[in-house]
Amino acid sequence: MEIIVKKNYEEMSKEAARIVKERIEKKPDLVLGLATGSTPLGLYQELARMHQKEGLSFKKVKTFNLDEYYGLSPEHPQSYHYFMNLNFFSKIDINIANTHIPDGLTREPNHFCLEYEEEIEKCGGIDLQILGIGGDGHVGFNEPASSLGSRTRIKTLNEQTIKDNSRFFKNIDEVPKYAITMGVGTIIDAKEIILMASGKNKSLIIAKAIEGPVTSQITASMLQVHPKVITILDEDAASSLKKKDYYKFVAERVKKFNGN
Ligand code: GLP
Repeated sequence: MEIIVKKNYEEMSKEAARIVKERIEKKPDLVLGLATGSTPLGLYQELARMHQKEGLSFKKVKTFNLDEYYGLSPEHPQSYHYFMNLNFFSKIDINIANTHIPDGLTREPNHFCLEYEEEIEKCGGIDLQILGIGGDGHVGFNEPASSLGSRTRIKTLNEQTIKDNSRFFKNIDEVPKYAITMGVGTIIDAKEIILMASGKNKSLIIAKAIEGPVTSQITASMLQVHPKVITILDEDAASSLKKKDYYKFVAERVKKFNGN
């Protein structure tokens, strides 16, 4: 795993955007896995800026979102459909037909989830998956004890997740109790992954996910077995890592090796 520690949220977001831009320039029809939550907002802002000011085009890019609340319509302001349109898709030149987000209103979740997996496969698999991390160590909505080989399915949300995400809703009772999420196995099938985390409140779970054992109790720990993960943290999120200085040392060496 490559671990990059940046000064603050802004620098973390810019570094992630720099990598995404590079991958799109190399492969204009990149299949991009997308995340929601507050963490990737800066990344989306920077990519939108790159589109407006630097001509970065998303015309051929295909996207698959990790998850959606079950029971929320795309027009619901807290749905991930709404979030993606507001914060990203409406600001770039992406073809909406090329974007995929799980359907929170499907009456046949099992069938829908199989189709979502098939659609990813039809597009040739995800080239680059963006991830944040939940307070309980989840990726997507893969809550503790999710199978590390799981595929897209409907999941019950953990109490901590409902509490964490209640900040976006009027009150905690409005937070959906279920979500459709890519599985850990689906996420791990992506060819490359960027994990982002920012802020002190993420530092302990980041340390467990990166330096602790691989366990279904912290599904982000499964990223340790993936051959191509870039973790980008700000100083606060990195502050509980035991080997922080070592990661910085390695990152410097890699830069020198690559002639930067
Ligand atoms: C939600 C999403 C995750 C996201 C997490 C963290 O639970 N399902 O994909 O990583 O929130 O959100 P934030 O970035 O706001 O801390």
